[in-house]
Amino acid sequence: MSKPPLHPALSPLAELVGTFEGPGTGHYPTIDPFEYRERVTFGHVGKPVLAYEQATWDPVSEAPMHAERGYLRPAGDGLVEFMIAHVFGITELLEGDHDRADDGRDRLRLTTTSLGIAGTAKPVRHVRRELRFDAERLDYDVWMAYREVPETHHLAADLRRVA
Ligand code: HEM
Repeated sequence: MSKPPLHPALSPLAELVGTFEGPGTGHYPTIDPFEYRERVTFGHVGKPVLAYEQATWDPVSEAPMHAERGYLRPAGDGLVEFMIAHVFGITELLEGDHDRADDGRDRLRLTTTSLGIAGTAKPVRHVRRELRFDAERLDYDVWMAYREVPETHHLAADLRRVA
């Protein structure tokens, strides 16, 4: 089957289509700091939504770490919606806007408007994500509020296009 053209609604996000890979670091007041490697793919099937696949692994042992999947949807007027399901029993619905960062790169700033926590999952209360991208680079930060800890930085990664 031939690849469909990108839906016009995805034009502002076109540079995300493809695969990015690189290193990340994590920390939080309740855990030891850690490092990871990550691969992120945004794909499309001609509809006005990007399919998101993420996987991380230990940079030394290469053992799988966190993974998440979801859909990124432009919502008009520079707004975006990002739905993410995590391997550890949490779902995030994030909403926010698409603008330009001070360095001229595209930026998505998103906060959770809804969180699903399975019975066995850790009680995350709030997540905020910022992604910055151009055709060759995708980097991001993630903050979360968890148990009694107020919103605090958890992750930063800097990925480069590999496909
Ligand atoms: C690149 C993605 C991520 C990686 C590599 C990662 C990695 C880790 C690691 C290594 C830990 C410490 C070990 C553990 O308790 O399992 C941890 C803890 C945790 N992470 Fe993440 N994480 C990621 C994304 C997220 C996201 C998006 C959230 C929130 C939605 C999150 C929520 C948590 C929570 C709640 C803990 C437990 C903290 C505690 O037990 O005190 N993580 N993460």
